[in-house]
Amino acid sequence: MLTIDNLKKHFGSVKAVDHVNLEIKEGEIVSIIGTNGAGKTTLVNLISGYIKPDSGRILFLDKDITYAPPYVRIKLGVGRSFQLIQLFTNSTVLDNVRIALFSKYGMIRRGLLPADRYSSVTDEAIKILDSFSMSDKKNLTPKGLSEGDLKILDIAIAFALKSKLLLLDEPTSGVATNDKFKVMDSIVKAIKKEGISTLIIEHDMDIVSGYSDRVIVMHEGKVIAEGKPNEVMENKEVKATVFGIVS
Ligand SMILES: Nc1ncnc2c1ncn2[C@@H]1O[C@H](COP(=O)(O)OP(=O)(O)O)[C@@H](O)[C@H]1O
Ligand SMILES: [Mg+2]
Repeated sequence: MLTIDNLKKHFGSVKAVDHVNLEIKEGEIVSIIGTNGAGKTTLVNLISGYIKPDSGRILFLDKDITYAPPYVRIKLGVGRSFQLIQLFTNSTVLDNVRIALFSKYGMIRRGLLPADRYSSVTDEAIKILDSFSMSDKKNLTPKGLSEGDLKILDIAIAFALKSKLLLLDEPTSGVATNDKFKVMDSIVKAIKKEGISTLIIEHDMDIVSGYSDRVIVMHEGKVIAEGKPNEVMENKEVKATVFGIVS
């Protein structure tokens, strides 16, 4: 569903993304790992349209989106987590999801809503919170949530916007080490239930290996390895460059 063809983005002499090719299939959960500065975030920004490449192509569902503005990509179904910036801090968890749904259906622009539309949106919001095991927290505001639950809410909202491809850039960053797997568990459980294709960016291989169908390793802007998590971890170049193990 996503094809990246020979994509290049340099910042001066820094080869952030250097002739990258990759493919994500329908329903696949793919992780990109690599040390800081490998080019992971730049790649996500290119896919979501926040920056434009120097050359190469990005195809999503057979459409060329290489130079499409971000809102067009969101409409087509490319969603990303927003690092919490879009949460309404004085609204409840439930309202935050409802607001996302209202905006998806264009209901905010239309003003007041008929009661039946309103209750169907509430039902949908509760279903989404259920999928993420968050319904018991629906009446709390974001201030009352742990860092891990904030991340889950953030992703539930990307999810409410009905992404076909979710881009998650370090979904557990800032989450206490002990909670990282719990957060990954709820995210991946919901993603699998809906069969959404997902690209997870992570610098720590341990966090994603159990959740990924495929792992892609980036280093200095290039893809240096790709395969099942266990295959990639045995790769000599990956061991040397990412884990610092020389054998
Ligand atoms: N807007 C920018 N201007 C200049 N250099 C950048 C910019 N964004 C990223 N870089 C550089 O590109 C390289 C890749 O960065 P990034 O994609 O953030 O890596 P990662 O997410 O893997 O840590 C780094 O050397 C970084 O300093
Ligand atoms: Mg990054």
